[in-house]
Amino acid sequence: MTITTRPSRSGPSLLGGSIDVPVNPCQHEAPRSVQSWTGEPGTVGSVALVGAGKMGLPLAAQFAGHGWQVTAVDVNPAVVDAINEGRSHVAEEPGLVEAVAEAHASGRLRATTNGTEAARSVDVVVVIVPVMLNDRQQPDYRYMDAAVEAVGPGLHPGSLVVFETTLPVGDTRGRFTPALEAASGLKVEDDLFVAFSPERLLSGHVFQNLATYPKLVGGIGPASTARAAAFYASVLDAEVVAMSKAEAAEFAKLAETTYRDVNIALANEFANYAERVGVDILEVISAANSQPYSHIHQPGIGVGGHCIPVYPHFLLSRAPEMTLVDASRKANDGQVDRAIATLEGALDGLEGVEVLVLGLTYRDGVKELAYSRAIPLIDGLHARGARVLAFDPLLDAGEVVQVGAVPWPWGSAAPSVRAIVTQTADPAWASLDPAWFAELRVVLDGRNSLGDLALPAGIDYHGIGVPSRTGG
Ligand SMILES: NC(=O)c1ccc[n+]([C@@H]2O[C@H](COP(=O)([O-])OP(=O)(O)OC[C@H]3O[C@@H](n4cnc5c(N)ncnc54)[C@H](O)[C@@H]3O)[C@@H](O)[C@H]2O)c1
Repeated sequence: MTITTRPSRSGPSLLGGSIDVPVNPCQHEAPRSVQSWTGEPGTVGSVALVGAGKMGLPLAAQFAGHGWQVTAVDVNPAVVDAINEGRSHVAEEPGLVEAVAEAHASGRLRATTNGTEAARSVDVVVVIVPVMLNDRQQPDYRYMDAAVEAVGPGLHPGSLVVFETTLPVGDTRGRFTPALEAASGLKVEDDLFVAFSPERLLSGHVFQNLATYPKLVGGIGPASTARAAAFYASVLDAEVVAMSKAEAAEFAKLAETTYRDVNIALANEFANYAERVGVDILEVISAANSQPYSHIHQPGIGVGGHCIPVYPHFLLSRAPEMTLVDASRKANDGQVDRAIATLEGALDGLEGVEVLVLGLTYRDGVKELAYSRAIPLIDGLHARGARVLAFDPLLDAGEVVQVGAVPWPWGSAAPSVRAIVTQTADPAWASLDPAWFAELRVVLDGRNSLGDLALPAGIDYHGIGVPSRTGG
């Protein structure tokens, strides 16, 4: 379908979910460095960034780039060593290698494993270590508890601690502030400031997002909110939004991510129905989203990564009455079983069948296997007797083996492969040549990214909610 429009002034994508926001130019004047930073406009001090991972390291570079003296704290000595040599251990983030090298060369970025020492020597501590889920789908605080335990004794009068890690509503006030007070002997809102400010960035777009997405800040009280908002105003070019309290900022992050999970679940239900009635869901979504209040996301084989599938459970852990949230999680996780059932139907069972999975990370371009739907996909295929080969441009052969599949070198002949499943929408799949697979019978396009792929006669194509076709 072609929709003819005049260029939109706000630029919302008709495919939903991706709205281009203009980047704010940097308007900071050259800052004045102060010994004990108190939030005075135009001044900068020193900050410890705890958890120098895919999100933390770009933040460290961003803070240094705005004049702050930054100490990156990480429990992984290899991460610390790399930073102290001016190297980024995260290769995929555009601009990060250069930003870390520049921050290091300017003398404003160093790293350590010692959180207590770091907290003692800085004005601000920003914490961004993971909180994930345990096997009962409850928040797993082990990294965060350890980080809080490390920095607490180093805090001193005037310290500001900001949690950027996504947390269940109430944790900043109820779980971590008492721990920080107990370890430091300080009193929040008096001589200690504590706030929550969710990290909302998308891997692969971090520096652009830092200059565009409004930064939400909610403190334990007004003094903490003001101090944290002043910090972010000094390091970010985006709008800073001071919220009424920490809980509102915690909830906002859970709301925006859970909204996306529920939205995708709806798109998946729509896709399943579209298959039943022989309608192309992509055409439907494009058309529906041409109404400016409709923002239907894309259907797919499932939702992965350590954000979107995790945070609905943070809500459910405190609000089990959210049945819509629970049903959406189940609907999205059920997409893998649907895909396997489609393959089973197309091939009359999977016992002894060789299946190639393309894309193992939770999405293309991000080397992250956490909660990737490739894992239950591979397990489910094995459970039905299939032999699973796999390829991911971001993983080497050893990493593919760790995920449970047999590595397939891109472009090599694989005469026994009878089915291909795409689990990511990597642009590389566009150059897939069906001639590499003499016995290929089915392509299951888990992200609807191969609709234009030319297939020889006799090979079936199935997408998610799009009409199936047979090549030739
Ligand atoms: N990755 C994303 O796309 C994304 C997006 C938005 C928000 N977030 C938030 O950021 C958090 C971190 O995500 P990430 O992708 O940067 O994780 P990551 O796994 O890439 O990095 C986490 C880092 O923390 C370090 N660490 C663990 N425990 C520590 C401790 N006690 N003290 C010091 N360092 C410790 C690890 O060694 C690692 O280097 C997430 O849990 C989430 O709340 C992530």
